[in-house]
Amino acid sequence: MKPSTPENLLPRRRPCWAWIWSARSRARRWWTLLLLSCCRLGLERGATAKEALDAIVALLAEHGQGGNYYEDASACHSFQSSYLIVDRQEAWVLETVGKYWAAERFTEGVRCVCSRLSVTTNIDAEHPELRSYARSQGWWAAGDEFNFSEIFSPADGHLDCCAGGESLARRGGDITIQTMIDILRDKASGVCIDSESFLTTASVVSVLPQNHSSPCIHYFTGTPDPSRSIFKPFIFVDDVKLVSKTQSPRFGEDDPAKKEPRFLEKPDRRHELYRAHEWARTVLASDQEQGHALRKTMLELEKQGLEAMEEILASSDPPDPAEVGDLFYDCVDTEIKFFK
Ligand SMILES: *[C@@H]1O[C@H](CO)[C@@H](O)[C@H](O)[C@H]1NC(C)=O
Ligand SMILES: *[C@@H]1O[C@H](CO)[C@@H](O)[C@H](O)[C@H]1NC(C)=O
Repeated sequence: MKPSTPENLLPRRRPCWAWIWSARSRARRWWTLLLLSCCRLGLERGATAKEALDAIVALLAEHGQGGNYYEDASACHSFQSSYLIVDRQEAWVLETVGKYWAAERFTEGVRCVCSRLSVTTNIDAEHPELRSYARSQGWWAAGDEFNFSEIFSPADGHLDCCAGGESLARRGGDITIQTMIDILRDKASGVCIDSESFLTTASVVSVLPQNHSSPCIHYFTGTPDPSRSIFKPFIFVDDVKLVSKTQSPRFGEDDPAKKEPRFLEKPDRRHELYRAHEWARTVLASDQEQGHALRKTMLELEKQGLEAMEEILASSDPPDPAEVGDLFYDCVDTEIKFFK
């Protein structure tokens, strides 16, 4: 699997994943936009959740969607994408089918975005031709209730399960950072996958307090398989210390993503933390004494981070930028030391 870098989700003007180049580089015959590119560009261009949504649907209208999910020239997938776009005040679920889309705004409750469509009749924003298209296809008659999920889900396609949503529903309203981490780590439910062909990559839990005097805190693993990774806190501040140990190496013009034809070679994109963590995963999987000891140490490090963040969230003073600027850097540094 590809290496994962926590920096990927940060709104910076620098593409991180190779295939993002496809959206950025010169227009090509099969110029397409991927979900990840949309995420990144939405973050870059929108200051609020609604603005990010507007940016994504504008990109969708201009470029359509599709493309390779993997660095493999022979694979080409077209797919529908769903987004959960959140700021401190509100959240939007945006679901897209080709160039069509519908979005629902909500300000409370629990929501999970899965591989099935979840927007039904509460539609707060939609593609201007969504209904006329559905009507032209004979899927919907004006006057009938417009249920987006019902109209746009494939008739034969069985609904994929939504394990994350079910796990969340079972917890009721009582959701903490630890709850989210536990759900992401849950292999029994199928949320966390570690199989021959598929491995859950980097995971993120974000807390966006409604009160602006508390900072938003993001917990990144930066490594695959959350059940064997540590969630480490990150807070946006000016002059945040960049963490090169979680950045994939750059290949410049030699990057197979930039050559023509593309993706003929697969370069080693593992970053330093990823490599160190590969060793840890082997040890943990062996289930020996050493694995237990390592797991305990890792969870202890994670717990310290969570507790420190709880303090920051409970405090009435905003955190000192000089102190939190190195937060993620220091956590990664400590983690790598454990893995040696
Ligand atoms: C919309 O359609 C879905 C899928 O058929 C169904 O499960 C759901 O109950 C419908 N919702 C409403 C509000 O009609
Ligand atoms: C936000 O937090 C500060 C500091 O804890 C508090 O003084 C203020 O009343 C809070 N504001 C709201 C709207 O709750």
